[in-house]
Amino acid sequence: MTTADHHHHHGSRLLTTSTADAVAALQSGALVAIPTETVYGLAANAADRSAIERIFAVKRRPPDHPLILHGVDLEGFDGWVRTIPAEADRLAAACWPGGLTLLLSRGPRTSDAITGGRDTVAVRVPAHDLTLAVLRDLATPVAAPSANRFGHVSPTTAGHVIDDLGDVLDPLRDRVLDGGPCAVGVESTIVDLTSDPPQILRAGAVPNHTIAELLGHVPAPPRGPSRASGMLASHYAPRCQIELVSTASELESRRAALAAAGARVATLDRTSNPTEAAHRLYDDLRSADRAAVDVLVVRVPEAGGIGDALRDRLSKAAATHGGRWIDEQRPLR
Ligand code: TXA
Ligand code: MG
Repeated sequence: MTTADHHHHHGSRLLTTSTADAVAALQSGALVAIPTETVYGLAANAADRSAIERIFAVKRRPPDHPLILHGVDLEGFDGWVRTIPAEADRLAAACWPGGLTLLLSRGPRTSDAITGGRDTVAVRVPAHDLTLAVLRDLATPVAAPSANRFGHVSPTTAGHVIDDLGDVLDPLRDRVLDGGPCAVGVESTIVDLTSDPPQILRAGAVPNHTIAELLGHVPAPPRGPSRASGMLASHYAPRCQIELVSTASELESRRAALAAAGARVATLDRTSNPTEAAHRLYDDLRSADRAAVDVLVVRVPEAGGIGDALRDRLSKAAATHGGRWIDEQRPLR
């Protein structure tokens, strides 16, 4: 039996497609992995302090990486956020439900456990029917990071969640709500509306140019204390080393050089279809690990649109094991 088979076997009792099951689990203080249009989240009732603390334990996530609140609409965050600036109304009306997270000033209902003691809180309304049904029934926001172990590749299917967390979730209490593969496949765009001018803290599902159009000006590049939280240079990492190239000929020459040096090497080029590249990105990274390759050489999509999020995730994945942009030829490591 392979490791993945083992996890799927073990995890099968966690899987459900019943929103009633998911709501009951959240009400009882258990954790539920929820499907969204971006990636799967690992959710706890935001009002349940000990459930929130368990998210950090299960993911092995440091407490200074705060969680995003997920709700059904802007009004649903009443009390969780302090004030709703005009820009928040505008961005929410245009993008929610959808892959946009807003950083706002924190309200009294939001605990330190969620924000890591910060005076800001991140909120979003995910675009997935099952999860919206759960959130409506629960009538309280959930706090949810991506449902992967800290630093690893994000999950875009229920099977990915079970592969990562199946052994640490409790099959008697916790649930993985299977809503199929995530439509977009990369995380939400995070816009900090507590800074003036607003900043894009993380490129994501909603293109930067859409944010700029809605704000009426180009947001500032990320800097300052909000940026420092969770925006690591290295993240989203598979076990294999990632190398990044720009052109088809670089992809081939790097593949050949690595193979000649005795490395097990695979290549990934979805530059002809950036939407598909995003949809499949995390499964592509997981596939490389399943195939036990040493190095995955990736041709990086151009900047702009979803390309900004892809470039961000790929460069962070590459940073982890000493991978890099190959613009100059250097020997591997
Ligand atoms: O698409 C998404 O946003 C997914 C799905 C599940 O909704 N969630 C997600 O969560 O990507 P996570 O925890 O993997 O990434 C959230 C990022 C982290 O880098 C965290 O540090 C940052 O948001 N964040 C959350 N609250 C923050 C705050 N108050 N200030 C600054 N950064 C914050
Ligand atoms: Mg994450």
